[in-house]
Amino acid sequence: MKPDTSSDPHTGLAVLKAFLSERSPLGPLRVMAERVGRFFQVPLPGFKPYIVYGPEAARKVLVTERDKFLWRNHDPVTDLLDHGVLVTDGEEHDRYRKLMEPALHPGQLPAYAGLMLRQTDRVTATWQDGQTVDMLVEGRKIALLIVMEALFSVDAWDDLPRIWTPILKAIDYISPGAWILWRKIPRPGYKKHLKALDAYLYEIIAKRRAAITNHQLPITDLLQHLLDAGLPDERIRDQMLTMLIAGHDTSTALLAWVFALLGQHPEIHARLVRELDESEADSRPRLLDEVIKETLRLYPPIHIGNRIAAEEVTFGEGETIPVGARMFYSIYLTQRDPSIWEDADQFCPERFAHGRKTPPSSYIPFGGGPRACIGAAFGQAEARIVIARLLQAFDFEPIHPEKIYPHMGATLEPRPGVFMKISRRQSSNHKSQI
Ligand code: HEM
Repeated sequence: MKPDTSSDPHTGLAVLKAFLSERSPLGPLRVMAERVGRFFQVPLPGFKPYIVYGPEAARKVLVTERDKFLWRNHDPVTDLLDHGVLVTDGEEHDRYRKLMEPALHPGQLPAYAGLMLRQTDRVTATWQDGQTVDMLVEGRKIALLIVMEALFSVDAWDDLPRIWTPILKAIDYISPGAWILWRKIPRPGYKKHLKALDAYLYEIIAKRRAAITNHQLPITDLLQHLLDAGLPDERIRDQMLTMLIAGHDTSTALLAWVFALLGQHPEIHARLVRELDESEADSRPRLLDEVIKETLRLYPPIHIGNRIAAEEVTFGEGETIPVGARMFYSIYLTQRDPSIWEDADQFCPERFAHGRKTPPSSYIPFGGGPRACIGAAFGQAEARIVIARLLQAFDFEPIHPEKIYPHMGATLEPRPGVFMKISRRQSSNHKSQI
């Protein structure tokens, strides 16, 4: 067993410095990883979760010893999603997951390409030449419209003003905050908005039930699979809210980070636009794939996986997590581990060229094992289609890309936003990139 340096005052000072200079807990996590290793405990009063990272730990948590961990927790995520697939375990989880998998199967993706393009164009039709847009906001609109139409057959364009604030509030509700240290801290300002979001989802369910009674529309979307299985409205609401949040906040972060990184790397931006312009219709541009993969490596939208140990688990050199303890496996630290990745902090899409491989479980932006992201194929196809469409239709000029930093919300988000001055290209060259 290695000596525990996590409570050493020098480490404490370095952690504090990193926090102040980076304005995010990611810096302190990196300091702890550098000084203590792939297994450490966060040294905060009242909050001492274990953090593990690296391929061996990821394999253990996601595959070989996954049954020793619970996803269900005592936190705002579980409070909000109730019995959503993300926060249930065992047979209950497997049942929901099986019901929803067909709608997100890779074979379904071509059926979604048209709506992904249409909803992207819908949002950009409001853009004016010379306007500065925030890609974090515009990406969210696009991702929301896509998930609502693909999974629930709802065109949410006219609903955006009604659901925008409730959705942002729901995301804020589950983001890290003072509740981590003081679980019972009062949290005013959410109830009204969370109720409004529920009311919206229950309306969609009721409308669909009415349509079935009236023998209208042979729909086979995700919502229909849940209804056909005979789930009560409350459990359908849980799955819808889970898919709505997990299925759009992640894609929003990915889209925004791609534009942030392109803004910071003009040469790669120019090469990507050239590649898209020159590619054949329906081909799969290589650099676009590599840019998306590298963005997911540096800024994984879900940067950490949250678990409770249901049994004692031993890691590395005999370090043990006791029953009932909270544990996080860090996707962020695994994907920036300098012993695995050359120039680990550099944006270098070429590292994924020619299908170049890294050790198993060292690249895990979608988690892994039986509970890997259910929307991984959907999310990647969406990113390819939306980014290609945007770069083919518009020129993007970044505004202060050097000021962007990662913020740990429900996802890892580029703050204060990704501001781009846009202008419509003269000869836009539209092709599908599924
Ligand atoms: C760039 C896009 C996305 C990223 C990076 C991402 C990332 C992840 C990760 C890392 C996990 C596993 C977390 C853990 O092990 O604790 C996960 C699970 C999940 N994701 Fe995604 N996701 C993305 C898109 C989507 C989409 C589009 C959907 C739905 C339409 C979705 C729905 C889910 C659900 C329901 C789970 C829980 C699965 C289960 O427990 O069985 N995600 N995602």
